[in-house]
Amino acid sequence: MNKYKIALIPGDGIGVDEISEGVKVIETAMKIDGGFKAEYTHLPWSCKYYKETGKMMPDDGLKILKDHDAIYMGAVGFPGVPDHVSLWGLLLPIRFEFDEYINLRPIKLLKGIKGPLRKNSEDIDFVVVRENTEGEYAGSGGRLYKGNPSEVAIQTSIFTRKGTERVMRYAFELARKRKKDLISVTKSNALNYSMVFWDDVFEEISKEYSDVKSKHMHVDAISGHFILHPEQIDVVVASNLFGDILTDLGAAIQGSIGMAAGGNINPEKKYPSMFEPIGGSAPDLAGKGIANPIGAIWAASMMLDFLGEKKSAKLIFDAIEAVTEEGKYLTPDIGGNSTTQEVGEAIRNSMKKMA
Ligand code: IPM
Ligand code: MN
Repeated sequence: MNKYKIALIPGDGIGVDEISEGVKVIETAMKIDGGFKAEYTHLPWSCKYYKETGKMMPDDGLKILKDHDAIYMGAVGFPGVPDHVSLWGLLLPIRFEFDEYINLRPIKLLKGIKGPLRKNSEDIDFVVVRENTEGEYAGSGGRLYKGNPSEVAIQTSIFTRKGTERVMRYAFELARKRKKDLISVTKSNALNYSMVFWDDVFEEISKEYSDVKSKHMHVDAISGHFILHPEQIDVVVASNLFGDILTDLGAAIQGSIGMAAGGNINPEKKYPSMFEPIGGSAPDLAGKGIANPIGAIWAASMMLDFLGEKKSAKLIFDAIEAVTEEGKYLTPDIGGNSTTQEVGEAIRNSMKKMA
């Protein structure tokens, strides 16, 4: 029996409803498979926790997490706590301290979903590999002369050779397993240090992967490409901020941010990796029971895949698509009138049927 220690951080708002559906799906997968067991540590770290304790997680939070095989996280952020406080108090330290340098985000139009582009599901099926530990998110800078007319704010991007090479190699390896086509997202026409460096490294690494077709596109140009020719895209590698922006665009062409999933991955498994729905905590939807659980359930599938439970991961993903294809149980964001719980249940039923 394979045992996995999973840290659960449902977080704030709709994150809580979504993660609870994801956990139920994992339970169902465990019963069907019979060969693995997930053991959870429930962690209440969130904005509510912050209001009670003054911290998003305890001082030894990372130490507690380190001892797990994976982290399954909802969304973080709630009115009353500034976003940069909640996110720099929980999500970003986990990404950085656990060296989760790959943020893997599949952009896939699920069967049965029309999406704003009205494409067929096979026409939107690509992956964004986002750098996740440095770049524009490095947190380097400062503010001087606060409130004065002479006030200055500096936010410096940091691109290291190590960080740039490893994310590109990961993307090339992934492209090799897919359609062997990789686009590097740049903006070297304007960012004459960081992105020219990024392009140089990409050129170098591409020589190791001559079997993969590769090119770069500026971030503005590829934004249009996402909309006009998504069928031409296979794998995309981008810096932290560019990848962040592009994957929200990706989520939109998938039909709903509520259906987008991602993994924050430390490929060497030296530290736990973290899996999450991409969408935010949506305070206005919290407690209404109408959040789309598919992003969280898909993230659970990615987590099981990463842990090595490939069969269960695929079963969950196939069950999600069976439900979207049938179109009977959908949440309001994609034109249905089912609740979060009903969609979760439909996915579990479809897993049992397919097993
Ligand atoms: C994401 C989110 C985060 C990010 C925020 C909440 C800090 O938008 O995971 O895409 O920018 O990385
Ligand atoms: Mn984002």
